[in-house]
Amino acid sequence: MRARLASAPLLELAARAHGTSMLDVGCGHGVLMALLAVESPQRQVVGIDPDQRKIGWARQSVGRCSNVELKTCTIESLAAERPASFDTVFVADVLYLLDAAAWPPFLRAAHRLLRPGGRLVLKEAEDDGSWRVTKALLQERLMVHLLHRTRSSGAVGFAPRQVLADALRQSAFSIDETVAFARGYSTPHILFTAHSV
Ligand SMILES: C[S@@+](CC[C@H](N)C(=O)[O-])C[C@H]1O[C@@H](n2cnc3c(N)ncnc32)[C@H](O)[C@@H]1O
Repeated sequence: MRARLASAPLLELAARAHGTSMLDVGCGHGVLMALLAVESPQRQVVGIDPDQRKIGWARQSVGRCSNVELKTCTIESLAAERPASFDTVFVADVLYLLDAAAWPPFLRAAHRLLRPGGRLVLKEAEDDGSWRVTKALLQERLMVHLLHRTRSSGAVGFAPRQVLADALRQSAFSIDETVAFARGYSTPHILFTAHSV
């Protein structure tokens, strides 16, 4: 968890929390959820991940907080169950694990989960053509294919910033902010905040 905090700008994501009802899609071990929930008991933080192992690990740590709920499920099934329930939906390093054809239903589900005026906070690594993206791709292939630490949903690959922005707009999001966090990191992080239109 410490390694994850050092390698990705999760504090920057947490700083963009809006409202009190939060969802972390693809929450993994729950590091971002811990940043959102531990010192903010007024917030309700839900984390979902299709990987049962990850949810199990998250339950043993951040899952002990009374304002945290963890579920093994997909974003599409949660959107059917709890539409318009969240002030902020976070998606951190998940889209790169999905085939591009799966992005529109995923992002539309994120849209359905947001309350009116809600915010999407999306972080990915961007394909900026640098050595950083080559390193990140090798690292992620190792995690998925050799070490089996990360579960892929059909892909392992990074997209250019413009492709990510277009996907957001095509799923009825309006982008409010685009920030790159490459300096100081060995991964070219890109963060978007967006609202539904
Ligand atoms: C690199 S980890 C990121 C974990 C966490 N978001 C973070 O930033 O620390 C990617 C996570 O996405 C999850 N994942 C894979 N396919 C997914 C999908 N279709 N929907 C949601 N999460 C998915 C994986 O199980 C894994 O926990």
